[in-house]
Amino acid sequence: MPRANDLEALAADIAREAGELARLRRSEGVAIAATKSALADIVTDADREVEALIRSRLRAERPDDGFLGEETGAERGSSDVTWVVDPIDGTVNYAYGIPAYAVSIAAVTGEPTPEEWVAVAAAVFNPPLGELFHAAHGEGAWLDGRRLSVNPEAPRAGALLATGFGYDPATHAGDLARVARVMPLARDLRRAGAASLDLAYVAAGRLDGYFERGLQPWDHAAGALLVAEAGGLVGGAGPGARVSEAMTVASVPGIFDRLLAAALGD
Ligand code: IPD
Repeated sequence: MPRANDLEALAADIAREAGELARLRRSEGVAIAATKSALADIVTDADREVEALIRSRLRAERPDDGFLGEETGAERGSSDVTWVVDPIDGTVNYAYGIPAYAVSIAAVTGEPTPEEWVAVAAAVFNPPLGELFHAAHGEGAWLDGRRLSVNPEAPRAGALLATGFGYDPATHAGDLARVARVMPLARDLRRAGAASLDLAYVAAGRLDGYFERGLQPWDHAAGALLVAEAGGLVGGAGPGARVSEAMTVASVPGIFDRLLAAALGD
């Protein structure tokens, strides 16, 4: 089994290189290449090119590992490691020129599904700011060279929370009802548009908590490890449940149970 730190270093190197390519393509202009599940769910040529770069770099360095990417899907490997990749998380921001997007790369072991995997290493790189968040299981979470820890507790004035909304308009009413249930815990709410950065910001103490229904594995794989390694709690659709498409909640420990209950409507 490779060392978590080695996988982290590889994830970080590739995330930086991929992020620089995304930034270059953004500066050249972005065209929407296709619409996916719903009108708002877009993919750009850059998403595909950046994922191809990440995939080829990983194949060259670790040819036996599996791959699960947003744009090109799943491929089982013969080792126990799978790379879970979102080449550009926050594609809508990217397409509109809002500088909140990230390359998200995680290495997981075991069955490559969020309910079963063990996240081993993570890198989330925001090219416009040049910020690289990274973590290795048991070795902490870092922003470049600075060790991260979640805020010690949510402020008495209420927690600074973030959320996101799925692309399917049919889910919006439920998402807004969730926001209404959660707001009594909040001093304010952010919707920045990139789940990997929302999670990285919980790890960095820039947010006290985050919740979202409908995330895909590549949206949360790296960010959830960042939060856990920074001392936060991460969970899914019930007490003790793992993150899944049904629910992702991440926060400082002091508000986790209340945030989870409100997000779920318990
Ligand atoms: C999306 C972003 C967004 C979240 C959506 C995700 P994508 O990922 O993370 O913040 O609200 O649920 O699908 O499509 O830009 O990679």
